[in-house]
Amino acid sequence: MRPNFFHHLHPPTIPARQARLRYTLAAGGLAVFLALVLLVTGLLEMFYYIPTPDQAAVSIQTLTFLVPYGGLVRNLHYWSAQFLVIVTLVHLLRVIFTGAYAPPRRFNYLLGMGLLVLAILLDFTGYVLRWDEGIRWALVTGTNLVRSIPLVGNPLYTILVGGTQPGPATLIRFYGWHILGLTLVAGILLVWHLFRVRRDGGIAVPPPALREDQVRITRYELLRREGVAMLLAATGLLLLSTFVAAPLAAPITASASTSEMARAPWFFLWVQQMLKLGNPFFWGGIVPLAVLVLISFIPYFFPQPAKGELGHWFPKGNRLAQAVALFILIAIIALTILALLPAA
Ligand code: HEM
Repeated sequence: MRPNFFHHLHPPTIPARQARLRYTLAAGGLAVFLALVLLVTGLLEMFYYIPTPDQAAVSIQTLTFLVPYGGLVRNLHYWSAQFLVIVTLVHLLRVIFTGAYAPPRRFNYLLGMGLLVLAILLDFTGYVLRWDEGIRWALVTGTNLVRSIPLVGNPLYTILVGGTQPGPATLIRFYGWHILGLTLVAGILLVWHLFRVRRDGGIAVPPPALREDQVRITRYELLRREGVAMLLAATGLLLLSTFVAAPLAAPITASASTSEMARAPWFFLWVQQMLKLGNPFFWGGIVPLAVLVLISFIPYFFPQPAKGELGHWFPKGNRLAQAVALFILIAIIALTILALLPAA
């Protein structure tokens, strides 16, 4: 077969264990696929979405109920965004639980952390664009968190919200960040991340002398597997988007429910739960930031796996990092469940 453009994305052959599903979980590849779906469906949504407070929710209703296949496009965009956050978290856990961040991959791990933060920020800004009753928490509690930062809180709040309280300027700012600012940076980081995977010698496996087997697969085989994974993911996503609609509530009105009754988007429920403990700057700012910094610097300050241990789950050399990641994961899941329980 003559190689085409897609074949050139991979080296001519790679060690077979770099492409094992039970090692990579295909999470990185799925994240790339979801990012592409988001880009295409997001561009299509832009033809109908109107970023003004009185038109935003109505324009989404028009798109959903009146535009042919508009509902499907919107559902695909929504579900891809939720799965992108989940799949990226799975990918991060896979990288930590296999110690794949060891040198020379430390820098790429940081690029990955940047992508994770951007995926969450894109999900958050996109969710605000609904400008319906469901987004009150984000709009009121979320933006007020910025105000609680000592010294710089107020000016930062004005920059974020575009005034002294949420209004038309807020929506246009979130729109600008969502469709351009964050998307552009995410696109650049994504290409850089993928380039670094290749530059760092592909996915982490032991060097040839320490490898149990020397079996290699061709790029045609790799591309075939990627194609199958993508088809399966596309089928699942289409089925879900056909039958389960993305949330949309009534447009925001000044008189409607208070912010206390509103719920954070699912990926910030753990933060919402911590806010009940007291000081918003500490629980809503310092603690989440500390978690982020701790995870980001795992490759730099924690013991590394030995070279021969790479390519396997749970290497002995980085047990400390695995324990820390597991602890954070359990704490976040527990806080999320608590936030979902009905208030006593
Ligand atoms: C939108 C988010 C992301 C995308 C699209 C993405 C994509 C990918 C892909 C396609 C690969 C190669 C295949 C694989 O390992 O599955 C990869 C590898 C890698 N990623 Fe990511 N990634 C993302 C986020 C992250 C995050 C959050 C981290 C960790 C902080 C990370 C760290 C790494 C590392 C260290 C490798 C090399 C793994 C190894 O050598 O075994 N990535 N990424």
